[in-house]
Amino acid sequence: MSRVSSTNLAVSAIAASLVAPAAPLRIGLIGFGCVGQGLYDILQRLPGFGAEVRRIAVKNPDKSRSLPASAFSFQADELLQDKELDVLVEVIDDAAEAFRLVSAALCQGRRVVTANKAMVAQHLPELIALEQQFGGTLLYEAAVCGSIPVIRTLDAYFGQEPLRSVSGIFNGSSNYVLTRMGEDASEYAAALAEAQQKGFAETDPTLDMAAFDPRSKAVILAAHAYGVLLQPEQVLNLGIENVSATDIAYAAVANQKIKVVAGLYLLPNHQLTVLVTPQLVDPTSPLYSVDDEFNGVVIEAEFAGTQFLRGRGAGGHPTGSAVLADLAALRANQRYAYAKLARPQLSYTSDLELEIYLRTDDELILDQLGFTDITEEADEDGYIVGFVPLDALIQHRDRLRKAGAFVARTGNVRPATAHAADTLELATAAE
Ligand SMILES: NC(=O)c1ccc[n+]([C@@H]2O[C@H](COP(=O)([O-])OP(=O)(O)OC[C@H]3O[C@@H](n4cnc5c(N)ncnc54)[C@H](OP(=O)(O)O)[C@@H]3O)[C@@H](O)[C@H]2O)c1
Repeated sequence: MSRVSSTNLAVSAIAASLVAPAAPLRIGLIGFGCVGQGLYDILQRLPGFGAEVRRIAVKNPDKSRSLPASAFSFQADELLQDKELDVLVEVIDDAAEAFRLVSAALCQGRRVVTANKAMVAQHLPELIALEQQFGGTLLYEAAVCGSIPVIRTLDAYFGQEPLRSVSGIFNGSSNYVLTRMGEDASEYAAALAEAQQKGFAETDPTLDMAAFDPRSKAVILAAHAYGVLLQPEQVLNLGIENVSATDIAYAAVANQKIKVVAGLYLLPNHQLTVLVTPQLVDPTSPLYSVDDEFNGVVIEAEFAGTQFLRGRGAGGHPTGSAVLADLAALRANQRYAYAKLARPQLSYTSDLELEIYLRTDDELILDQLGFTDITEEADEDGYIVGFVPLDALIQHRDRLRKAGAFVARTGNVRPATAHAADTLELATAAE
């Protein structure tokens, strides 16, 4: 036998051993909106993947659909009761109902994929406990940055390595609005209207523009990157509703852009802090050029150094791509390791001071925040730059949301009540 034909035989043998299993994965799909239809379409285009959507549950019986009415159930619980389904994919837009369905499935020891970041962020400790108690598996790559494989990167590849920081642009809608404001000199309302018209922002933009959505994602990443389980309310999130052309111009003078950055930062003494706010981003940061609806994640690892992931964080196909990857992982019996949860815990701290830019005419909030140092003040433009306690920002965040434009200065944080000389440089990619 020639060398070529023996190689061909070996390749054929390997290929035969790797083909999709004979029995297709039987999927119960709960939700047939943007993500559900995106996944359905992907599976139709990939018959070789070896999965079939056996049942689909939706809510509204009167809606017109791209598939015949007979394809749908209007009771998601029917899918929970169907033991012939190998995997349940939960992609509905109701976090409370999603938790009810996912936790019920985990109580049956089922394999489940979800894309619901708000639900996972709010209930992660309970969901992990249910997996451990009943032996099921929950994967949720689509919940953070859509098609960017950030959870599996942090959970699997960086499961052992200490990370100096994980920071990124986790919300494409607000990033699109800020990009338009920067490039077209539009004001917030006009840029938001354009984002809504192009389908990059929801009709109710609050979760995205006020940074609740990226906060949920940061909370999920804290578990995988640092082994810290947080409640979303512990994390400061401020949005862009009051950012105006004045603020964009302030950043541009220093050749910076304003971006909503979710940052998880390792501090001395085994402490972690997490912030989700508009930030000044320098051209040296990979995040500087993450524009429009794109997402980006910078990982600063102790040994690997800096890594940068960029991609589409939303949309039917990009998010469906993440669900597809989870289905493949489930079929290979993979589950999250949560390796850092088993380690001595980092403690979460907000006992820090943060350097901020605040443009407001609300005298009370200036008093409430208690600036400890003022580094810049421009009465005519109505802004002030200086250090404030992070705890004060958290305590007064509701008033702050209405008070004016807030932007954090990247990398400038220091222990509370310390002197300026003690400023800690957070490990951001801008350095
Ligand atoms: N859209 C994205 O790009 C994206 C990206 C990442 C993560 N996600 C997450 O993925 C999930 C789905 O988002 P989406 O944009 O696909 O939402 P969507 O377009 O609004 O679709 C939601 C779907 O869920 C169905 N549904 C709602 N309540 C239900 C219930 N109780 N039982 C059965 N079906 C129910 C709806 O049924 P009807 O069709 O009858 O209304 C609809 O088909 C959300 O958690 C979202 O945060 C979305």
